[in-house]
Amino acid sequence: LRTLKRIVVGAALGGLTYTSWLMYRNRNPETQLPFDPSKKTLVLLGTGWGSTTVLKNLDTENFNVVVVSPRNYFLFTPLLPSCTVGTIENRSIMEPVRLLMRHKMREVKFYEAECTDIDAAKKQLTIERRVDADGNEVKLGEGETTTINYDYLVVGVGGTVNTFGTPGVEQHACFLKEMGDARRIRRRLMDSVESASFDDITDAERDRLLHMVVVGGGPTGIEYAGELHDFLVDDLTQWYPELADRVRITLVEALPNVLPAFDKKLIDYTQSTFKENKITILTRTMVKEVKDKSFTVQNPDGSRSEIPYGLLVWATGIKSQPVVNKIRAQFADAQTNGRGLLVDEYLRVKGAKDVWALGDCALSGYAPLAQVAAQQGKWLSRHLNRLAADNAQNPEADLHALIEEKSRPFKYSSQGSLAYIGSEKAIADLPFFNRNITAGGIATFWFWKSAYLSELFSLRNSTLVASDWVKRFFFGRDISRE
Ligand code: FAD
Ligand code: NAI
Repeated sequence: LRTLKRIVVGAALGGLTYTSWLMYRNRNPETQLPFDPSKKTLVLLGTGWGSTTVLKNLDTENFNVVVVSPRNYFLFTPLLPSCTVGTIENRSIMEPVRLLMRHKMREVKFYEAECTDIDAAKKQLTIERRVDADGNEVKLGEGETTTINYDYLVVGVGGTVNTFGTPGVEQHACFLKEMGDARRIRRRLMDSVESASFDDITDAERDRLLHMVVVGGGPTGIEYAGELHDFLVDDLTQWYPELADRVRITLVEALPNVLPAFDKKLIDYTQSTFKENKITILTRTMVKEVKDKSFTVQNPDGSRSEIPYGLLVWATGIKSQPVVNKIRAQFADAQTNGRGLLVDEYLRVKGAKDVWALGDCALSGYAPLAQVAAQQGKWLSRHLNRLAADNAQNPEADLHALIEEKSRPFKYSSQGSLAYIGSEKAIADLPFFNRNITAGGIATFWFWKSAYLSELFSLRNSTLVASDWVKRFFFGRDISRE
């Protein structure tokens, strides 16, 4: 028994010492090597799932690394819907990239800017600062620009919201893609509720303000509707008892059912859970126009109706970033698909030399998913590390060609899909020995929580998210406007 006690105490002390050392190292990074003019310059575009995974795993001894992105943080998108109602605080799922950069062996240069153009012949990029001296966002084309050179380029700029050119969407709808979108939704939601509590408005106006609409029944729309329902039941009912009964949530989907990529059983489970939660699903219904207080839909029978709303969240998928079209134009003969950058099985941009693309901006035959982008990032960094070491032996060797000679093509291995559907229920579609298992309910919700907690970018993020969940349990969500 005494020996067992010693082992337990020893292990606890060891663990404590190791954690303290990790925390110390985290706060006190070592001095970094400076840029080495004899090394090639590798430019990474973006700080999302693809590019950040490349940076995390890249051996910076091999390259001079430059990162260009309009946001100086990584965003854990799977928990973004939770930020729209305050289940999780915004900063808990953001990780500043400078923390990651500062721990690399060699210094990494970061430009908070957007890449707007490329000159493939000169191997040069134009980058534009999208904020002015007062910190306000400026329109594309109106910011300060500069040029930078690259030897190797990795494009991981993701996608942008697809409105399909639907009139009024850009002006009146909220998106759910970036942290700024979640912030805007939270503000608009509280504005609608506070405006609805004024006495001197008509009942029709009150009902309009309290009608929350989600357009798009993909995973983003479903998860947002689920979070909104929880906010209504857990918080609004307590703090706005006179309004809570009037709040309505409607989800509009153009196809015959929601979540087309999920198993049929999970689709049925989600639809029945939404019914229990009094979320109206309008299927085979397409939004045709959005005005400031109402939107027009085309009903299943082809007729049109106008529906008033207070908040409308547009979650209908993604399309290419403008810079992707500029890159495509440089290699027009090989880049024949307008939906993104065609890449080969080694993630090389077709028609280009020394340019790779990954994640949502790359047409690699896989769905636009975080897990695809992250696996591609890991694959690319591993191969770049190995090949750069070969390259160091023979600086004239062609890295772009070596990759084919020395590596196996990238292959995606699906870890399955998870989605939160509200009222502490989640759905899971998981691969299991060449078969798929599906599950939905409260146990799946706990699996969803633990899976995301363990996948967060850093120990810091996991600690913050876990404490947000505990905070919500004890004190409820924060209903302040800001
Ligand atoms: P992103 O992560 O979008 O990153 C793109 C980066 O490029 C950003 O840093 C951006 O600022 C930067 N950038 C943009 N334009 C430029 C430019 N011109 N120059 C330089 N940088 C630029 N997937 C899952 O697998 N599971 C989930 O649970 C899941 N949940 C999601 C929830 C939500 C709400 C959303 C919106 C998406 C979710 N996804 C999920 C999808 C997942 O987030 C994307 O597939 C993933 O982010 C793609 O990674 P990426 O690196 O290609 O792009
Ligand atoms: P999506 O493309 O998956 O779904 C968009 C939905 O909007 C489609 O079902 C489409 O029919 C519908 N739609 C389009 N135009 C419409 C209109 N005018 N009126 C009504 N409905 C309309 O988009 P989403 O949900 O934004 O997801 C984007 C990507 O991110 C997907 O690959 C998805 O799998 C991934 N993702 C994964 C998550 C998860 O695994 N938990 C969570 C969120 C996103």
